[in-house]
Amino acid sequence: MCGIFGYLGHQDAAPLVLAGLERLAYRGYDSAGVAVIDRAGHLEVRKSAGKLANLTSLLEREPLSGNAGLGHTRWATHGAPTDANAHPHLDGTGEVVVVHNGIVENYIELKGRLAAEGHTFTSATDTEVIPHLIQELLAQGHTLAEAVRLAAAELRGAHAIACMHAGSPGTLVALRIGNAGGVSVGFGSGEMFVASDLPALLPLTTSVAPLAPGEMAVVTPEGCEMLTLDGRRVDTARQTIAMNPVAAARGGHRHFMLKEIMEQPESAMSCLRGRLGFTPPSAVLGELPFTSEELRSLSRVVFLGMGTTQYATRVGARTTELLARLPASAEDASEYRYREPVVDERTLAVAVSQSGETADTLEAMHLAAGGGARTLAITNVAGSQADRGADATLLMHAGPEIGVASTKTFVNSMLVMYLLAAHLGHARGALTDAAAAAHVEEAARLPALLGEALELNRGVYERLAAAYVKARRFLFLGRGLLDPIAREGALKLKEISYIHAEGMAAAEMKHGPIALIDGETPVVALVLRDALYEKMLGNISEVKARGGVVIAIATAGDDSIEAQVDDVLWVPPCPPLLAPMLAAVPVQLFAYHTAVHLGNDVDQPRNLAKSVTVE
Ligand code: AGP
Repeated sequence: MCGIFGYLGHQDAAPLVLAGLERLAYRGYDSAGVAVIDRAGHLEVRKSAGKLANLTSLLEREPLSGNAGLGHTRWATHGAPTDANAHPHLDGTGEVVVVHNGIVENYIELKGRLAAEGHTFTSATDTEVIPHLIQELLAQGHTLAEAVRLAAAELRGAHAIACMHAGSPGTLVALRIGNAGGVSVGFGSGEMFVASDLPALLPLTTSVAPLAPGEMAVVTPEGCEMLTLDGRRVDTARQTIAMNPVAAARGGHRHFMLKEIMEQPESAMSCLRGRLGFTPPSAVLGELPFTSEELRSLSRVVFLGMGTTQYATRVGARTTELLARLPASAEDASEYRYREPVVDERTLAVAVSQSGETADTLEAMHLAAGGGARTLAITNVAGSQADRGADATLLMHAGPEIGVASTKTFVNSMLVMYLLAAHLGHARGALTDAAAAAHVEEAARLPALLGEALELNRGVYERLAAAYVKARRFLFLGRGLLDPIAREGALKLKEISYIHAEGMAAAEMKHGPIALIDGETPVVALVLRDALYEKMLGNISEVKARGGVVIAIATAGDDSIEAQVDDVLWVPPCPPLLAPMLAAVPVQLFAYHTAVHLGNDVDQPRNLAKSVTVE
């Protein structure tokens, strides 16, 4: 988490850095800061707890001037989100300035040693040891690049670090250790940029060089030199990235989250574009380098992900098992990476990550690769670490997702996994030509069905939000492919409305959670007309028999359901494998309108960050 942005060139650095931080705010937004060095080597820092607007006001009152700047937007790990703990951090002389993303796992030991040598610290962060280490090495006569490199060797953990020194105002050193989020260098004309991710650079330049783990960049306004962390020069490839930053604008909607929910038909269409063959119908996944022989020899598929994306993989795993007749599991990547899983050359490990930067997902993918697995990334960000690190990538093509709560990428990731399952099933002979064709034809219906789902229930969400907003907690129940949607519904509600919610397989309720049922704990029941419909009706009866309140998410046209529940949100009738993608719409909109009713910051909910680049 945390966003880093640096600038060296001929323009005033502070406004550029501030604008860069705005584009990175999804990575963390509990405090922010900027450091600027002028040509005379005078270094000054402004930092402020709270959202970026606080730093902007501070800079209006106390401007900074200079052509070299370094900024940071923070998601706190060590030390509360206060002014003092905000980055950038300085050494004791006030000449070395550092911004950092990651956790210095041995900071207590380092801080103790430095304190014993006379260093004093002004924050509760782990980061602050880094400028002090660098200053010690500068004092021994090392260059800035050498000092940063040697200091980095003392740190345990995964890090992205950027550093400047008042004594070398035309140099910025950035480095990356492990998978604590990326660092990319952007090339301008007589000016250079450094940022945590590519989208932050795109309004300024499309010529970029992402650092690999174990690399560092010594940047000047004219260019940069790339080195490994053991001091060898490397030729990191410069790439040209195409992306339209205008697409990220809110487009007339009150919040990015609402815009992103509403554009799901279009983003699903983008995901399908070029992937549907029609004569005969087939899923065309030309990005996959695996031969039919390799696909046939697979013995299992392991999907890796976190949070919302992990719920999407639960749908993906079930669909894969169903269509490809392959054992498939959806794994919490943070657990998988530490449990010594069984992996071999016949395993396909699919890392699913909107950002492509989630630390646990990346590590789990690397672990599987180490065990011999073939790896596939499903991500929304071309050039992300997941994309670069996997054997192959299937892009979600959802367009930029700015709202911290994932919505359109949740649907697109399920859609990509559906296509993948159909492709695997066909390649392995588990699906006949006709069956594979039927799935492709069904997938092609998704954009239109999403459009219908968005049209249904107009005005109802606002009414339900007002009616249920006082509830202390919610339960979400689903079965089969809708169990993960129940979990996602609870997660969406928690993260933006701050109301406690639990999502579970409906049958699980009887094994404990049923004790929570009362008139103040609404139950959202996903009860579409599918094979498990009658079972879900049974679960609804159990809730009603205990005085519970039920909001059903049901198939439009199922008039009988209304008499059995308190309120209904409709989903258009659809093929069973599209049901999770369509049922996602009402759970997203219910959470959205509840949060709006509460006056919450929907796009930047408290305590969260869009990508979790620390474990
Ligand atoms: C949910 O709305 C969150 N955005 C979060 O759970 C997210 O899905 C998770 O952190 C994984 O992110 P990724 O898809 O970028 O890897």
